[in-house]
Amino acid sequence: MTPPQSDVLTIETLTVDDCEDGTVVALVTINRPNKLNALNADVTSAMKEMVAWGEAEDLVRCIIITGAQPLEPEEGRRAKPNAFAAGADITEFLGAGSEEITVKFTDNAIEALWNISKPTIAMVDGFALGGGLEVACSCDIRIASTRSKFGTPEINLGLIPGYGGTQRLVSLLGYGKALEMVYTGEMIGAEEAQRIGLVNHVVDAEELKQRALDMACLIATKSSNTLRVAKETLRSALDEGLTEGVATEAKAFANLFNSEDKEIGVKAYLNREQPKWKHE
Ligand code: COA
Repeated sequence: MTPPQSDVLTIETLTVDDCEDGTVVALVTINRPNKLNALNADVTSAMKEMVAWGEAEDLVRCIIITGAQPLEPEEGRRAKPNAFAAGADITEFLGAGSEEITVKFTDNAIEALWNISKPTIAMVDGFALGGGLEVACSCDIRIASTRSKFGTPEINLGLIPGYGGTQRLVSLLGYGKALEMVYTGEMIGAEEAQRIGLVNHVVDAEELKQRALDMACLIATKSSNTLRVAKETLRSALDEGLTEGVATEAKAFANLFNSEDKEIGVKAYLNREQPKWKHE
């Protein structure tokens, strides 16, 4: 299993010890630390490739996305701050018109990430702004360090979020908080982000990687088939009304009763054993 590599997006595959079948967690790092991991065309193109790879590789059971740590500063220069990603690369916006942007933002990498069928975790250490926050919001779960900062500063550029941020923020925070973030462009700290439901967990920076890996590895020990159905079914709650959504769940739940993994899981529970999933 060789992941695609690029200078701006590195992918490591980490074996999950609790699984015997070669299951891996993919740790994906946006790698432009000198530009606070801003998402330029190279990053988004590599991210699309990563999503296609992650979807196709059976043994990839969970994906963690993060930003590269700052490099040692050059002599006499200040260190750059930590960042998950400080947004779309603003240099690519200058002079760009609607037509060019429509092409660039249609069928984009962030939407591809949102639509991947596997579990995803954003591991945020530092600035998650604009498109960076939208990458984090396209992941299923967000874990952040205490020094992280979140915001949608597009308003200061005469813009609004363009990678689905307006929609996904409303579903995560509710309409009022999402509007406040988008209207003001102000950053909020990690604790406030957790308080309003933007991030799931906040931990010290030194603990962040372990915490994200522990969660990814725990998820990776589950049946990948059941995880996929879980994601699809919870996702339907965002697009369907309650009545329709409950019917979708009932159907998905009943369908799982014909899966091999349901029989494996139930038998393992009754025999007080660990289930050995077929992922079917
Ligand atoms: N696009 C392109 N370059 C970016 C960037 C972005 N979104 N965010 C940061 N950078 C670059 C800076 O231009 C700078 O490059 P340089 O050192 O070659 O001049 C480098 O990253 C470091 O950023 P800097 O602004 O010097 O760091 P800071 O600590 O003073 O400020 C921020 C940090 C996050 C407050 C500031 O970088 C910022 O406001 N970034 C833009 C955020 C934004 O508007 N994002 C939404 C885009 S749609």
